[in-house]
Amino acid sequence: MDFKTLIAKRRSIRKYDARPVPQEVIDRLLEATLTAPSSRNSHSTHLRVITDPQLLEQLASMRDYGSAFMKSAPLAILVLGDTSVTDKWLVNSSISATMLQLACVDEGLGSCWVHIDGSLCYKDEPDGPTADQFVRKLLDLPEHLKPLCAIAIGYSDFEPAPLPAWDKAAHIHQ
Ligand SMILES: Cc1cc2nc3c(=O)[nH]c(=O)nc-3n(C[C@H](O)[C@H](O)[C@H](O)COP(=O)(O)O)c2cc1C
Repeated sequence: MDFKTLIAKRRSIRKYDARPVPQEVIDRLLEATLTAPSSRNSHSTHLRVITDPQLLEQLASMRDYGSAFMKSAPLAILVLGDTSVTDKWLVNSSISATMLQLACVDEGLGSCWVHIDGSLCYKDEPDGPTADQFVRKLLDLPEHLKPLCAIAIGYSDFEPAPLPAWDKAAHIHQ
């Protein structure tokens, strides 16, 4: 797929059919994700693959807004940053997550970013637990690995509409 087609096809997909994602496809997604550049080549990004339906359902309940759809995904890949190797882990992880979403398009998969870092579990409880704390406990993450987001992934049985037009010119300064 050429680059222009790839970026035009990328949309957030939150509904998936029942097909599992084959292991060889998962392997290619992981490989592509880890080609992302990183500050001082620090390679701070780590990936956790989740295919267990029970675990996906638990992960989907990390927040009371914007994460529930993940329970119907056959796959989620958690994008984590190793805070012990660079202070740029968040930026590195963001680039990796974007690379992963583009790799999904190339494999004919739909995906959607589910945010973790800095997000609350309950939107009306500003002093309540955070999604980071929830995920950390659920997956028993080591202290130095910070979850940025989960990318929910699966096959979509519909072709999403192209990106709606918006005023890009107002965002370009030259
Ligand atoms: C940093 C970031 C966080 C996001 N968090 C969520 C989320 O928690 N839940 C969700 O359903 N979509 C989430 N999204 C997807 C956006 O809502 C989506 O990219 C945006 O509405 C534009 O739609 P498009 O991806 O189809 O172009 C997130 C996207 C980004 C880049």
